[in-house]
Amino acid sequence: MNALYHLHDVTVRYGARTVLSVDDLAIQRGEVLAIVGPSGAGKSTLLRLLNFLQPPTSGVVRFDGVAFSASKAAPLAVRRRVTTVFQRPVLLKRSVEANVAYGLRLRGQRDGIDTVRTTLAEVGLAELANQPARTLSGGEAQRVALARAMVLRPDALLLDEPTANLDPYNVGLIEQIVARLNREQGTTIVLVTHNVHQARRLAQRVLFLLDGRAIEIADVRTFFEAPADARTGAFVRGEMVY
Ligand SMILES: Nc1ncnc2c1ncn2[C@@H]1O[C@H](COP(=O)(O)OP(=O)(O)O)[C@@H](O)[C@H]1O
Ligand SMILES: [Mg+2]
Repeated sequence: MNALYHLHDVTVRYGARTVLSVDDLAIQRGEVLAIVGPSGAGKSTLLRLLNFLQPPTSGVVRFDGVAFSASKAAPLAVRRRVTTVFQRPVLLKRSVEANVAYGLRLRGQRDGIDTVRTTLAEVGLAELANQPARTLSGGEAQRVALARAMVLRPDALLLDEPTANLDPYNVGLIEQIVARLNREQGTTIVLVTHNVHQARRLAQRVLFLLDGRAIEIADVRTFFEAPADARTGAFVRGEMVY
C-alpha cells in the first residue's frame, strides 16, 4: 500500500450538519486526481483536510503514514510537503519575483533565487519578473501563484478551482504547467474543478462528490464513458442542476 494520502471514516460536521463523510479514500503518489461535484458538495472542505488547514470532526487523514485528526495536529514538516493554489490568488504588493520567492523566504531558504527564475520561465513570466504584481492580468497572477507553489517543491499540490475565472488561453497555459509538473516532477495533484472537461484533460482518476459523499471514484475513462452510478452520468452530461 503506497498511497500518499489515506482517509479513514472521515467526517466534517458543522453543528448537526455533516458536510463531508468519506469512509475510505486513497490518493496515490504521483497521480492527478480530479474532484468534481456541484457547488456545496464539500470539495473545498476536502481540500482543507488534505492541506491540514482544518482537522476532520471524526476519523483520520493519513499523509505518508502520519495521522492528522481532531486530536492530532499535523507536524510542520508534514504540512510543508503540501501546498494549495486557490481560485483567487492573493499576491503581495511587490514584484512578481518577490511574490514567488516569498514562500522560500518564510522557510529561511534564501538561496532559492535560481529556482525562482527558472520557475518563472516555466510559467512563461520570465519577462515580468520585476513588474509589480498588482499590474498583472488575472491569468498572469494565477501563474504567479502557481510558480510560488512550485518553488516549494511540494509532494502534493492542491488546486481549488484554479482556472475558474480565467480566459481560455490562460486556462490552457495553466493546464500545461500542471500536466508538466505531474509528468516531470511526479508531483501528486489534487484538482478541484467545476469543469468536467478540465478533469478529463488532466486527471488520471476522478472523484464525484455530492452532498459531502463520495459517489464514485474511477479512472478517467470509466468515469466519463461508463460510470457505475447514474448520478455521475447525469453530472458528466450536465444534467445535474448546480
Ligand atoms: N465554516 C463553515 N460553517 C458552516 N458551514 C460551512 C462552513 N464551511 C463550509 N460550510 C458548508 O459546507 C458545505 C460544503 O462547502 P464547500 O466544501 O465549500 O463546498 P464546495 O467547495 O464543493 O462548493 C456547504 O454547504 C457550505 O455551506
Ligand atoms: Mg469550493
